[in-house]
Amino acid sequence: MAVPESVARHARKLRETLEYHSYLYYALDRPEISDAEYDRLFRELQELEAKYPALVTPGSPTQRVGSAPLKEFATVAHQVPMLSLNNAFEEEDVRGFDRRVREGLEAEDVAYAVEPKFDGLAVSLVYRDGALSQGATRGDGYTGEEVTANLRTVKAIPLRLAAAHAPELLEVRGEVLMLKKDFEALNREQREKGEKEFVNPRNAAAGSLRQLDPRITATRRLAFFAYGVGVARGEGLPRDTHSGLMDYLEKLRLPVSRERQVVRGVKGLLEYYRDIQARREKLPYDIDGVVYKVNDFAAQEQLGFVSRAPRFAVAHKFPAEEATTVLEDIEVSVGRTGALTPVARLRPVFVGGVTVTNATLHNEDEIRRKDIMIGDTVIVRRAGDVIPEVVAVVKEHRPKHARHFVMPAKCPVCGSAAARSEDEAVARCTGGLYCPAQRKQALLHFASRRAMDIEGLGDKLVDQLVDNQVVTTPADIYRLDVDTLADLERMGEKSAQNLVAAIESSKEATLARFIYALGIRNVGEATAKDLARHFGTLDALMEADASSLEEVRDVGPVVAKSIARFFAERHNREVIRDLRARGVRWAEDKAARRARQGAFAGKTFVLTGTLSAMTRDEAKDRIEALGGKVTGSVSKKTDYVVAGADPGSKYDKARELGVTILDEEQFANMLSG
Ligand code: IVH
Repeated sequence: MAVPESVARHARKLRETLEYHSYLYYALDRPEISDAEYDRLFRELQELEAKYPALVTPGSPTQRVGSAPLKEFATVAHQVPMLSLNNAFEEEDVRGFDRRVREGLEAEDVAYAVEPKFDGLAVSLVYRDGALSQGATRGDGYTGEEVTANLRTVKAIPLRLAAAHAPELLEVRGEVLMLKKDFEALNREQREKGEKEFVNPRNAAAGSLRQLDPRITATRRLAFFAYGVGVARGEGLPRDTHSGLMDYLEKLRLPVSRERQVVRGVKGLLEYYRDIQARREKLPYDIDGVVYKVNDFAAQEQLGFVSRAPRFAVAHKFPAEEATTVLEDIEVSVGRTGALTPVARLRPVFVGGVTVTNATLHNEDEIRRKDIMIGDTVIVRRAGDVIPEVVAVVKEHRPKHARHFVMPAKCPVCGSAAARSEDEAVARCTGGLYCPAQRKQALLHFASRRAMDIEGLGDKLVDQLVDNQVVTTPADIYRLDVDTLADLERMGEKSAQNLVAAIESSKEATLARFIYALGIRNVGEATAKDLARHFGTLDALMEADASSLEEVRDVGPVVAKSIARFFAERHNREVIRDLRARGVRWAEDKAARRARQGAFAGKTFVLTGTLSAMTRDEAKDRIEALGGKVTGSVSKKTDYVVAGADPGSKYDKARELGVTILDEEQFANMLSG
């Protein structure tokens, strides 16, 4: 059927609109229209193309669906080899790199283009007359696998370049990766389907791209960032600097990193490294370092290559977050609530900048799911300050003597039965406070800063006090005297006196702190505060039944049940009576009443920036004492944002939403009424 000119024009317009919005969405993460509106335009184009098949072009946004599966990938020879970078690990290596560059160029001070080192897999995209004609993996750098059909399904990769005068030939190089959030979602789906999870986003990206069936690739959300150019022919290509080339690629609507910069000298390089390292966890994708490139192309050429790597660029790597080691044993530790947590004892391994010997295995199901056996070679991950964990097993290295872990039927510390209720992932020791491990944890929690705040009552001391049976319940803490304490190991007269003084001053508590200190399961600090505010007195709380407990904000049936159960326990009531008899007290109803009718009653505050007159915790306490509430993020429901020095994005959000912003002085005035 002949296509009327007006229809052809409309189809062209639709394609351009869709390409533009797809670019905003996938490359810039800054959509201007709703998903529904996009879908509507997309369907309109699909319908036109169905009616007039002659309208379909390979570059149409409708043509991203995966085509039929392949038997094997064809190989592609890279016209310009895809080389690798030399690595720098220490500052010294970076100084050496800069020195060699300066010597090679006989320059004093060099401008460098700096960008993240994406942790994905390198690909080459060939555009002929602006249309994507071939995509390939890096392979060994000289030949790669032809994965055009798969790369066409990656929405961040344009099928057509945007410029009216796209060059005749342009080979774009960059990295295919999976955003952290898409990786989490993919693994969640895999888990639900009972299929194998991916170890990390890079493996997930590689597994998704190297699929013989492009329809599978099409279901995976892959991202792409360009970082360079291979062969190129034609007009318009910047020939001066790398940063100029990146800006040009951005104009062609290729995704390039927002984190790219130009800096000067080694000082600039190291500042950039530290800045990105500090923000690493917050970036939407994994990176394993940063890359420094001499910005000027003529200078790059002058420096040239040594063997397979350029002299003009280097990758400054972060300490690896994953390492391989041997899981030598699995032990079980007992937490405050009796939870039995299997802990991997590892052959010491350097990962994430420290030597790691233990890693959490979470619970029994997790061990089954990951098929972890004692003796296995495992991949350990330590990211930022997060507790190290075992992410996967290297099955090929499983030794013959590897054995399964069996959750003990008894608590390894006190010998009480371990029990696992149906709705829980963890097994628990049923010994309660009879179990020394739980007792120790309960005492440490009781004394912790945000609970009763007894400075100096740390874990070494609690170990001794419990092991020597000096202290059994929290109330026993208030029986300690200088003589008893001074007899303990590593305790001098002076520290014993300090501790007794700290114990004494902890007696002046608040109801909220006291409730939190009791260590009732599922009752964290926020719930403890809500309970104190709601009931006003401990007696009222202790007498409350499940339904009146559920009247408290954020208290559901599970929390209500654990509170009621705690106070129903005779032993717990005795300890509370004992604590009061020892002089622990709080201003109960008065404070609660004041808070309920306080100046800030019903008002929600958000704190941002640094306050000079008080810490954030103090500010929070004072707001709450007047009946206000402090939350972590700004929304339309926020009444006030208190902004100290260097406020963060919450400040901008508040301005955007028109929320009242208080500076420190205004806030101080409000506090003093
Ligand atoms: S430039 C001559 N820039 O790192 C080599 N590579 O060892 C030019 N990579 O497999 C490479 N992010 O895929 C360059 N911003 C970046 C990069 C980057 C990641 C990868 C690349 C290659 C490896 C180089």
